[in-house]
Amino acid sequence: PLPPPFQVPLPLPSVLKPVSTSGGVDRYEITQREASAEILPGVRTPLWTYEGTFPGPTIESRRGRPVTVSHRNELPVPTAVHLHGGRTPADSDGYPTDLVLPEGWQEHSMHMGHGSGHGMHDPRAVVTELTRDYTFPLDQRPTLLWYHDHRMDFTAPAIWRGLAGLHVIRDDAEDSLGLPAGRRELPLAIADRAFAADGSLDYPALDPTLRERPGVRGSYLAGVLGDVILVNGAPWPVHEVDAARYRLRILNASNARHYELEAVTDDGRQLDLVQIGADQGLLAAPVTHRLLPMAPAERYDVVIDFSRVPVGSRVRLLNRLGAGRTGEVMAFRVARTAADDSRIPRTLSNDLPTWRRADAVRVRDFSFRAGRMGGGHGWLIGGLPFDPARSDVTVRLGDVEVWRLVADVHHPVHLHLVGFRVLSRGGRPPLPHDAGLKDTISLRPGESAEIITRFDGYRGRYLFHCHNAEHEDMGMMANLEIV
Ligand code: C2O
Ligand code: CU
Repeated sequence: PLPPPFQVPLPLPSVLKPVSTSGGVDRYEITQREASAEILPGVRTPLWTYEGTFPGPTIESRRGRPVTVSHRNELPVPTAVHLHGGRTPADSDGYPTDLVLPEGWQEHSMHMGHGSGHGMHDPRAVVTELTRDYTFPLDQRPTLLWYHDHRMDFTAPAIWRGLAGLHVIRDDAEDSLGLPAGRRELPLAIADRAFAADGSLDYPALDPTLRERPGVRGSYLAGVLGDVILVNGAPWPVHEVDAARYRLRILNASNARHYELEAVTDDGRQLDLVQIGADQGLLAAPVTHRLLPMAPAERYDVVIDFSRVPVGSRVRLLNRLGAGRTGEVMAFRVARTAADDSRIPRTLSNDLPTWRRADAVRVRDFSFRAGRMGGGHGWLIGGLPFDPARSDVTVRLGDVEVWRLVADVHHPVHLHLVGFRVLSRGGRPPLPHDAGLKDTISLRPGESAEIITRFDGYRGRYLFHCHNAEHEDMGMMANLEIV
């Protein structure tokens, strides 16, 4: 029973209250537990949640003010929490074998069945606790981050079941710009899902208990798509807006679906999508788009001016890459005229890193391609499936490097710990939406791209991987050691 489009009100995730703010640290507690919600009319959907909701509660932070989040696992399986885009010490980065165990979980019940040699076979790599405190210094540019599950081999089905939430970092400089704020700043976490007739989420896992056997059934190897588009957990929602500028902080929280967003008025006009920020914070200057491509895990900070359409009319956010219902995302109903003293400054930030090719002490090449893994289909980086016991790349803290990435099919490539800039795509200058500081780059089929970054922050073991979550679970991840 799919609801008609643009009827359900847009939910805004609740903001989590700290349990303490003393000592200069914001402390939070999150319980990971099963819950259910009425996502489609008339049926309940069982979920895995942070604090009972999907998406989980939003954490609001100030730049440089440390946060600790104590996660307690009441789910039936182990979990690992990663703050995506966070500049985080390695022991709080949610390495896929640094698990939060549920009560009574028996280590020996985990037997990886796919014989790929990637799995929990290295006891040295396994750190386990029943609750776990994650510490985030948040000494980084203000931006929209998201936290999500990152458990070895089972990240995709865990996110699919609901383990994702938003984390916003702000600072005084950004607050003083005069951008649309308060009610006129909307987080939009877009995710597709498929549902069974009883309302449960449909995921083609090889092992529905998500205990032993990772991976998806044969026809889903490219990634799992759903036919229902959710924004903040609601199907094709609608939001009432003033005839004024709004700041939309958009996250593609889908496992595998790409979008190409456009904002269309009732009389068929495209509104400008004025991009002010990327994955890792504000751009130097706004970039205006009519179409905005979004790969999984990417964030775009966009201003739309609803004063450009008549009161009483609608602006639909559409997905040009979809067909039928997956071509629709949500709508805004322009309800009333209103004063608007917001603005989009011509200079948004002046602290973007300006690394140049000549600063790089090394150039590395990585291929992202399909291949064989343990007798089955896998997704490989540099010809190898992920192995937590293997060291793949070792970089020196503080070094600037250029990485050349090449893909066979679409692969959104994500680096932990650092932001990077896109130097080139397919031998040509970057695309307009590559502007700013990124942590995820959407490699298109057959495409190569160059990125540049400085590996600073912390030493330790991190990851880089494809953020098509099914590709990630099927091997497309590698260790990044910073020494
Ligand atoms: Cu959003 Cu390694 O992840
Ligand atoms: Cu991929």
